[in-house]
Amino acid sequence: MARRGTEGHVVVVGSNNFDMVVKADRLPKEGENVMATGLKFFPGGKGGNQAVAVRRLGAKATFIGCVGEDVFGEFLLRNLRASGIESRWVKRTKKVSTGCAFIPVLPSGQNAIVVDVGANLELTPRDVERARAAIERADALLTVLELKLETVEAALRLARKAAKHTVLDAGPPRRFSEELLMLADVVSPNETELEFISGESVSDRASAEAAAQKLLDRGAKTVVVKLGRDGAMLVSPRGAKHFPAFRVQAVDPTAAGDAFSAALTVELARGAAMEEAIRFANAAGALACTKLGAQPSMPTRREIDTLVGRNNC
Ligand code: RIB
Repeated sequence: MARRGTEGHVVVVGSNNFDMVVKADRLPKEGENVMATGLKFFPGGKGGNQAVAVRRLGAKATFIGCVGEDVFGEFLLRNLRASGIESRWVKRTKKVSTGCAFIPVLPSGQNAIVVDVGANLELTPRDVERARAAIERADALLTVLELKLETVEAALRLARKAAKHTVLDAGPPRRFSEELLMLADVVSPNETELEFISGESVSDRASAEAAAQKLLDRGAKTVVVKLGRDGAMLVSPRGAKHFPAFRVQAVDPTAAGDAFSAALTVELARGAAMEEAIRFANAAGALACTKLGAQPSMPTRREIDTLVGRNNC
């Protein structure tokens, strides 16, 4: 672990997608065609977003992922490098296209996402093993479920063996083994993901706590639930604690969860206490909602400090 106050180094083993964002009045019903406007392209993918957030928060970021040998892959790789992220472990494949996400944003500020994960599924445990030295040099590893589950497991296992902090962002909703739950120091789902993994319905703080408790019963050590507009909740064998959200003018929630997970991991890597790290992550997630798009909305440390400071007055 990095000494308290040092910059910290986070390895992200994750997905990288080309995001196509439009503004729509509502989502189409099955078989329906709705018109949209304002098509914009953004670098995205949960892992890529997290790696960019890690850098903006002043920590060193190494990204391990896979993109296609196409223009989208080229664009994403160039963007990672330009963001100051160590990208030598990003694999290129000819087999499938780069991951792409289709994201309508609604007038309410809510969104919906359909992802073709494409090349992300070509990242293998062997690719992670090749980057072992980078993981061993880091302070923490953050990973997501937009990859093959065996690759996620290999990454967590390697980092655990090297005594690094391990954080599993449990998105998108997928069923996974108890093994994965046990390999992560922190499992962080949003409400929909928590519902899916626990099999319990989640509609408020009490039901979120009960569902998170199910994950603890299955072997998770600590669960940090992202509650969107209601902030976050820490659930561990020591009990549950709610952290209120920071109030912001929400424009687009895309990647708010990624900003949260990255900020949480960076702070843990830098030696912060869990509660302090969650408060910081809450501010990161809120700020990510104030701009359109995934990676352009990842906040800086200065922006977070300002928001946290304003709320302390
Ligand atoms: O978490 C937001 C991300 O989910 C988007 O950038 C999209 O690419 C999908 O992976």
